[in-house]
Amino acid sequence: MTESIRIVGGNPLQGVIQIRGAKNAALPLMTAALLTDETLTLTNVPHLTDIQTMAELLEQHGVHINHTAGSYAYELKAQTIINTTASYDLVCKMRASILVLGPLVARCGQARVSLPGGCAIGTRPVDIHLSGLKQLGAQIELSEGYINASAPKGLTGAKITMPLVSVTATENLMMAGTLAKGETHLINAAREPEVVDLANCLIAMGAKITGAGTDTIIIEGVSRLHKATYAVLPDRIETGTYAMAAVITGGDLELTHTSLALIPSIASTLQQAGIIIQETPNGMRVKSSGSSILGVDVMTEPYPGFATDLQAQIMAVMTICRGASMITETIFENRFMHVQELCRMGANITVHHSSALVRGVPYLSGAQVMATDLRASVCLVLAGLAAKGETTISRIYHLDRGYENLEEKFRNCGANIERIAA
Ligand code: EPZ
Repeated sequence: MTESIRIVGGNPLQGVIQIRGAKNAALPLMTAALLTDETLTLTNVPHLTDIQTMAELLEQHGVHINHTAGSYAYELKAQTIINTTASYDLVCKMRASILVLGPLVARCGQARVSLPGGCAIGTRPVDIHLSGLKQLGAQIELSEGYINASAPKGLTGAKITMPLVSVTATENLMMAGTLAKGETHLINAAREPEVVDLANCLIAMGAKITGAGTDTIIIEGVSRLHKATYAVLPDRIETGTYAMAAVITGGDLELTHTSLALIPSIASTLQQAGIIIQETPNGMRVKSSGSSILGVDVMTEPYPGFATDLQAQIMAVMTICRGASMITETIFENRFMHVQELCRMGANITVHHSSALVRGVPYLSGAQVMATDLRASVCLVLAGLAAKGETTISRIYHLDRGYENLEEKFRNCGANIERIAA
């Protein structure tokens, strides 16, 4: 059943929102279970459709997953891997499926993984993943839309310089390196907190990894990994999203079970825009200063720069700023699909190549809009919360991939928001 979200905007959000575990940490952490025949127990795993999709994928590889409905804990045990193929119908549902490639080759010496298609935000090739695995000694052959990787004698450590900072390529190659013979150096590695979280979990499983969080990660291969219990770190994108919800509605929100340290660039951007952000023992409090939002320029960059996954959200905030904001997207080539939808709500935005000039308008007006990808859809929710009148957002299945009980959390803070059959 297709669903929409209906919002009547104008209510400042007031209250407390608990932040859950990071989707983009939980997904690679789940694939790490493939690296051992013992149990990996993960806690603080968010309830998201992407997590369910990953669980389905791992189960068809032979991973036994014990998860009590409603709980945030998962026990994953890959005692025997019965299938090293990740088929197109699963991979095309979620690009992060590519994260089984490194672990399968490392554990089983082979893998047949569908090439993830392009997606709404860009072509998103996986060449860095594949060239890295080749440097670790895997044979890689592409046929019929599949990656056929084999390393019958196992992988051998190598010095790999990645031409671009890639989060999942860093994660795939770090996992592959844990069971390779000898030492692997990942140079120009991604520094995202989710990469550090994965490294810390692998270390708890017996891997020898140093440098995670810097641009050079060194992995000394070991013969096997063992069981571990690990808590997924808080979701910095969820944190930034809800912080911006407080800002755009002129509200006052306390975000718990998270940390200001996870969103350095977002916090400084919001503070430049005149927003008050107070650190609390368990997270932060975000409130508007009462005067209007000041226009601030934003450029997305790899961590610790401004996260591309928060670009659509900050654009929604800047549509009602005093002045203007130049927003430049440097990571993906097509991540402005939300611009036209925001313009239908009265925003004044012009796009020139990878930059969008947002000229502040006094207010947005509710309209019928359509979600195109996960983060664009939440940007439209933020816009709807602030707009005068009623907004309905269609294709909200995108939202459920990355945000747990979003409407309920906003309703509990005073929003007039509900999910309706489309
Ligand atoms: C991760 O995707 C995240 N997904 C994305 O979040 C996030 O937007 C992105 O990192 C950037 O931070 C997960 O962690 C599951 P990249 P990933 O490889 O790893 C190019 C969300 O909304 N590239 O860091 O796929 C690529 O095209 C999602 O939660 C290559 O050219 O992104 C892009 O331009 C969306 N070749 C740039 O690098 C490669 O082999 C960065 O992409 C790999 C990437």
